[in-house]
Amino acid sequence: MRRVYAVLAGLLLLAVIAQFYFAAVGAFDKPQEDGSFSLHSLTGMMVIPVLSLLATIAAAVAKAPGRLIGMTILPLGLVIVQVLIIVLGDALNDSADNTTTGSLVILGLHALNGLAIMGVSGMVFRQARLLAASTTPAPGTAARVA
Ligand code: HEM
Repeated sequence: MRRVYAVLAGLLLLAVIAQFYFAAVGAFDKPQEDGSFSLHSLTGMMVIPVLSLLATIAAAVAKAPGRLIGMTILPLGLVIVQVLIIVLGDALNDSADNTTTGSLVILGLHALNGLAIMGVSGMVFRQARLLAASTTPAPGTAARVA
């Protein structure tokens, strides 16, 4: 199960890297249309949350340390923050739905929070690999020594 956890954590990190790529794909698409960010939306709303959840379940089943289990669900929590940043930023647009200085200040945080998601996912992958490589038995599964 430790190896499954490491594989899921690796896929999560790959999805986050792809998410940055898809952000650029959306930004460079001309003309800008509803579908410009569809790959970014799909990866952000579905792929990253599902992988974060599955990796967390795998971490719990593999009896990973509690702190690591908590860190593995963090990308999902930070994706919710990503959506909240957009909702709050959009709410500060003017009456014609054009951005204002205030809305741009908030919306720019989406990129910084994206970096935080990248950092956490990288740390989770590193820890999951170390756990998979370690020979220490999971707590509660150690053979009793008389
Ligand atoms: C781990 C990194 C990121 C995650 C998880 C993420 C997640 C999301 C999510 C969930 C949405 C809402 C999609 C929807 O409403 O359908 C979104 C929208 C958006 N993101 Fe990100 N994002 C990330 C990084 C970035 C970066 C680095 C940029 C650009 C610098 C960016 C630019 C945008 C833009 C422009 C939108 C609005 C797209 C639209 O109008 O449809 N994102 N993102």
